Amino acid sequence: MCGIVGYIGDRPATEVCVAGLRRLEYRGYDSAGIAVAENGGLEIVKVVGKLDGLAEALAENPLSGTMGIGHTRWATHGKPSEVNSHPHTSMDGRIAVVHNGIIENYADLRDSLQEEGYEFASETDTEVIAHLVDKYYKGDLAAAFRRAVKDLEGAFALGIVCADDPDQMVAARRFSPLVVGIGDGENFIASDMGAVREWTDRVYVIDDDEMAVLTRHDIVLTDLDGNPIEHEPYQIPWPADAAEKGGHKHFMHKEIHEQPSAMRECLLGRLTDADSPIKLDGLNMTEDEIRGLRKIVFTACGTAYHAGLVGRFLMEKLARVPAECDLAAELRARDPVVLEDTLAIVVSQSGETADTLVALRELKDKGAKVVSVVNTVDSSIARESDGVVYIQAGPEIGVASTKAYTLQLLTLTMMATHFAAVRGTANEEDLRDLRASMLGVPEQTQELIDREDDIREVASKYYEAPDAFYLARGVNVPSALEGALKLKEISYIHAEGYSAGEMKHGPIALIEPNLFTVAIAVEGEVYEKMIGNIQEVKARSGPVVAVAMDGDAEITRQADDVLWIPECPELISPITAAIPLQLLAYHISDMLGREIDQPRNLAKTVTVE
Ligand code: G6P
Repeated sequence: MCGIVGYIGDRPATEVCVAGLRRLEYRGYDSAGIAVAENGGLEIVKVVGKLDGLAEALAENPLSGTMGIGHTRWATHGKPSEVNSHPHTSMDGRIAVVHNGIIENYADLRDSLQEEGYEFASETDTEVIAHLVDKYYKGDLAAAFRRAVKDLEGAFALGIVCADDPDQMVAARRFSPLVVGIGDGENFIASDMGAVREWTDRVYVIDDDEMAVLTRHDIVLTDLDGNPIEHEPYQIPWPADAAEKGGHKHFMHKEIHEQPSAMRECLLGRLTDADSPIKLDGLNMTEDEIRGLRKIVFTACGTAYHAGLVGRFLMEKLARVPAECDLAAELRARDPVVLEDTLAIVVSQSGETADTLVALRELKDKGAKVVSVVNTVDSSIARESDGVVYIQAGPEIGVASTKAYTLQLLTLTMMATHFAAVRGTANEEDLRDLRASMLGVPEQTQELIDREDDIREVASKYYEAPDAFYLARGVNVPSALEGALKLKEISYIHAEGYSAGEMKHGPIALIEPNLFTVAIAVEGEVYEKMIGNIQEVKARSGPVVAVAMDGDAEITRQADDVLWIPECPELISPITAAIPLQLLAYHISDMLGREIDQPRNLAKTVTVE
């Protein structure tokens, strides 16, 4: 994982790099560091822990150099410590490197460099890059890097500076994301465009095996052999302040509140009224292709995987295509059978998750057509897909995904409804009802957010519990998994999501008064069965918080507390049920004083396998 930034211009590089790193802290926050060209050498400052520590250290010892690189780390090789923090340097301290990715052959490289007399200061894989560049350096940093890269196996986004050349910065990419920000008399590098948006709205999105040589007034793009390449600058579509907290205590809270407007954006131009067909630009599939589908394979990680599970359910139920959903990290192991006319639907907020990208390539190699459902425009997953349906959520900063999840669900519901209409596999009245309900989802979501005080009240009853179960059936089983994930990742309360039908096969043994159960019991095919499950929990003295639809009198007799959601078709309810579950997890965690936007051990974008 990790985030990298770099600046070359006429402002103090520390200011730009620290501000850029703040936008990248979602990629890891085990340590932070910076290297600045100053007084003919490189000044390096590193701290263990979050960026605030680095900012404090720099406030005590300000640096004025105008070229620098910075890093925020999520530890892969070597524990979080000052010595393992980036930037890593050559032995004489004149070459410094920041790296996101993993150098897979670092142990071999390290052995041979040690034989040549190189001494290593850290336990990291990255340090070999600094020594290799030093080994090949003959007065031209870019040439030394081009030679060094031939020895490297694995993944990298790199920023490299050399004290002997304070007017040049080298950046390169293989597998890990990298953009080059285009300024006026100044240029930038970063792991994503959000990190440079404060200063520029134009970037080059660097592809695998490409590099950039930046000076203050120029950017030269080449492949790793030095052959020139050209990229059209990409215009960042969101304003500079899109990634600010805007008065909210946490990004997660802001992002929960942004959902109604983000949903409207997502629907815009795609679903205009209940009687018109859904239009999904970017899907890149003809109606014949949709009709001819024989199988759909969903793949994703984390929260996006839960969205994929809902997508699988809807595609099978509505579009009548056999569908499966794999955790991206497991897909290759299964060596999935890809039939002719198989569609792969890859779901990812960042578009950069390493396992998901690897799974995408596997499915593509096997002959599947790949459509991705992605948030980050022009990300690796988006670019490698045959079609992309962007969820249009805007930047999501909180590590716990919220608005991206509900927009993934909304997008997948539109896709399934569209496929069903084209394939003629569902009743037209039902499809009309789904389209009308989707149009109403932004308003229903706003209503749910307006009920936040009631949810906070419920949170205050359960925030000290050590364990929780989340139960559901049918299309809402993924809602239970996602509700439990939200709670455990930000509150550290042990929480498990289950199909309620599985309760009797083991988990029910754990029920006791200290463990609370969140039961999603919305009107629909599985409602009666859920009531049965709630009674089983209650009979064993377990408190129950139900998620139920407005007007359900029965549920008030069964559950201790109810999180109400507006009435909607069962197939739409995963979207609206997600909102109170997000707010419940948020308020429980806030009451516990947790670091909600940056939970321990996590990173928002997992760019290592
Ligand atoms: C991390 C994040 C999750 C996210 C998952 C997949 O675990 O913390 O919020 O769901 O990665 O990320 P992606 O960007 O591919 O959706």
